[in-house]
Amino acid sequence: MKVFWFILCLLLTFFDYAIGAKILAVFHAPSFSHYILGVKLLRAVAEKGHHVTMISPFPLKNPPKTWRDIVLEDLTKGFSFGNILNLVTMSSYRKEIMINAAGSELVQRVVTHPSFKNVINSNETFDLIVLERFMNEALLGLSHRFNAPYIVLSSTGYSRRTNEVVGNPGSTAYTPDLYLHYGYNMTLWQRFHNTFFYCFAMLHKHLVVLPKHRNILKETFPDAPSLEDLFYNTSLILLNAHVSVKYAVPSVPNMIDIGGFHVSPPKPLSEELKKYMDDASDGVIYFSLGSIFLSKDMAPEIRNTILRVFSKLKQKVVWKWEDENSTFSKPPNVRFEKWVSQQDILAHPNLKLFITHGGLLSNIEAIYHGVPLLVIPIFAEQFMNAADIESLGYGLKLYYADITEENFSYLVNELLNNTRYKENIKLRSKILHDQETKPMDRALWWIEYVIRHKGAPHLKSVTLNLKWYQYFLLDVLALAIVIIVFTVAVTVICLKRMFIKRQKPKTD
Ligand SMILES: *[C@@H]1O[C@H](CO)[C@@H](O)[C@H](O)[C@H]1NC(C)=O
Ligand SMILES: *[C@@H]1O[C@H](CO)[C@@H](O)[C@H](O)[C@H]1NC(C)=O
Ligand SMILES: *[C@@H]1O[C@H](CO)[C@@H](O)[C@H](O)[C@H]1NC(C)=O
Ligand SMILES: *[C@@H]1O[C@H](CO)[C@@H](O)[C@H](O)[C@H]1NC(C)=O
Ligand SMILES: *[C@@H]1O[C@H](CO)[C@@H](O)[C@H](O)[C@H]1NC(C)=O
Ligand SMILES: *[C@@H]1O[C@H](CO)[C@@H](O)[C@H](O)[C@H]1NC(C)=O
Repeated sequence: MKVFWFILCLLLTFFDYAIGAKILAVFHAPSFSHYILGVKLLRAVAEKGHHVTMISPFPLKNPPKTWRDIVLEDLTKGFSFGNILNLVTMSSYRKEIMINAAGSELVQRVVTHPSFKNVINSNETFDLIVLERFMNEALLGLSHRFNAPYIVLSSTGYSRRTNEVVGNPGSTAYTPDLYLHYGYNMTLWQRFHNTFFYCFAMLHKHLVVLPKHRNILKETFPDAPSLEDLFYNTSLILLNAHVSVKYAVPSVPNMIDIGGFHVSPPKPLSEELKKYMDDASDGVIYFSLGSIFLSKDMAPEIRNTILRVFSKLKQKVVWKWEDENSTFSKPPNVRFEKWVSQQDILAHPNLKLFITHGGLLSNIEAIYHGVPLLVIPIFAEQFMNAADIESLGYGLKLYYADITEENFSYLVNELLNNTRYKENIKLRSKILHDQETKPMDRALWWIEYVIRHKGAPHLKSVTLNLKWYQYFLLDVLALAIVIIVFTVAVTVICLKRMFIKRQKPKTD
């Protein structure tokens, strides 16, 4: 009998594994760093035996066996933010408007794309939808269409956009807006501006952005419930965040920090680059502004300023420079590399400083390997990241417009000479590595948990049941005022009566 049960269990386990869950993921943002984050997670999900269908603008190289790509070809044809450098000085208000407009335009393109339509008009079934939290509200209709719960991956960590859908406390006293230049630790004026910006963003969202998404939802999924019903029905948010990266903030039970999950064990560098790095007795500086803004598009004056500063250093420099045909001269201690495996170069013991745009993935990789940062923020939430990095003391920031020889040289020397930054980032690194479970294992466990518990509605915060005036206790305040007014009125009337009665005999 025991043997029978054993075999049955074994068979069931195998059966369960072999079938796996069917997961539909949509990572439509035409930004490679958003896509890569989604792929990193879902590849691991597929390698556990689940069936992943990925809808995105990019095809995946070497996909796992249970992976299906649905590529949205030409999604971004004729779609451009222009020169990325224009975003450096753009006001936060214009940025918010522009990026939201781009978001709804992109979603419109996704839902009218033939490959997407094929999926929603098919008779396929899915057990789970995985989306990004990135201006894609109308896509939540997928959850209704396939009658499946949805989880969200946020590439930016805790923010207004992630907090609101799960009812997480995110007061503007300590939650800076993504597009402002403040960290979590704000001065009075910064909190004032942050709150003002929040009100602006909320008005813009409710008056302009959501109506657009409501229309798209209605056209694409005609019998879907209201956008709000879908919006506040997130089963789980996986956040690219960790206490080692920023300040600790409140977090409801269905927000799970998985910051660092994208970091892989280091692989060896190319022979040539490894020798270059090994021979650098005074250390190496690595310079890369990420994959969207290319160093080669930098103004030539700024480039020359930076090269002049580098020429005076003892350290060697590896600069991710995308144009191998550049003709200008460069100092002998600077080496251009068209493409570098960033995580692997950060892992090299001779790396002393990382000059970066401050994207969150780069920050986390630098913390992982304990390399101090000089941040030159370019766009999106990089200004906010820069403020936090400086405030937490594991790096410094320099705005692109402030790059002068004096400024740049001062900051690079300060970061190289003052051991404080290295000590701080080593501490952060220790915090990132000292975890109960690995971030990726945690992500996988929670994804399967949501599938096992059919959307895990028990995790939803009770705050989502409250109307906004209940949440802010405005009804309680109103009741308190009524009680106070009533009590005062009654007291006054009683006193008056007593007073008048007592006075009466005297006047008689
Ligand atoms: C789905 O539709 C295809 C034809 O379009 C059909 O062959 C298949 O059996 C259908 N599957 C289910 C589960 O209904
Ligand atoms: C927050 O900023 C203030 C002023 O800049 C500073 O004095 C304080 O130490 C900071 N707090 C933390 C936790 O870094
Ligand atoms: C550099 O020049 C080579 C040969 O002329 C050419 O094939 C290549 O596309 C050029 N690279 C860039 C980035 O312009
Ligand atoms: C950089 O230089 C400008 C003036 O050119 C100055 O206003 C600014 O404060 C400097 N920034 C830093 C970080 O030194
Ligand atoms: C850093 O040290 C180097 C030599 O060790 C020196 O030339 C440079 O002036 C120092 N910079 C600062 C800011 O102290
Ligand atoms: C919300 O999600 C639950 C599963 O977690 C599901 O049963 C319910 O139908 C969803 N509601 C809407 C309006 O989609």
